[in-house]
Amino acid sequence: MTAPLSLTPGGSLYDRIGPQALEALVNRFYSYVAADPRLAPLFPDDLRLTAEKQLAFLTGFLGGPPLYHQRFGHPRLRARHLPFVITPERAQAWLSCMASALHDTPSIAPEDARELHAALGRVATHMVNTPGEATAAAPPPQRGF
Ligand code: HEM
Repeated sequence: MTAPLSLTPGGSLYDRIGPQALEALVNRFYSYVAADPRLAPLFPDDLRLTAEKQLAFLTGFLGGPPLYHQRFGHPRLRARHLPFVITPERAQAWLSCMASALHDTPSIAPEDARELHAALGRVATHMVNTPGEATAAAPPPQRGF
């Protein structure tokens, strides 16, 4: 699940997006997470280290240098998320924050944004560790690609 995405024409997604846009994306993403009542309670108040780790992880995941592995070891992402209650609704909320951050980072080309969002969608689904609330109500609209 955390293996780097395969190389595609034009280089890896990391090559196409570049470190600056990726950092801007991650910082924007966590500002949305902090403002989202479905997600904020799970996270520390100070999101700087979380953002740093996410940037290191995504750098390697998208085909750049394996910064997370070098600094923090194997990500074991699913195991690291087990202490947190992650329902399908929370995974959708996470992805919705990412979609908003992608929309607000125009230096990332739309086709790269779509590819990144789809790849993160697969990882987010893998992080779900708790069934959702059984509700007959329609789910809230989600921002996507
Ligand atoms: C599905 C919804 C998700 C939720 C609710 C969630 C929530 C969290 C929480 C609460 C933390 C701990 C933050 C901290 O204490 O610093 C965390 C850490 C992290 N998450 Fe997620 N996450 C989700 C999906 C993802 C996805 C899709 C990825 C990767 C693409 C990811 C990558 C990470 C990384 C790299 C860390 C830092 C791990 C570490 O402590 O070294 N998460 N996440």
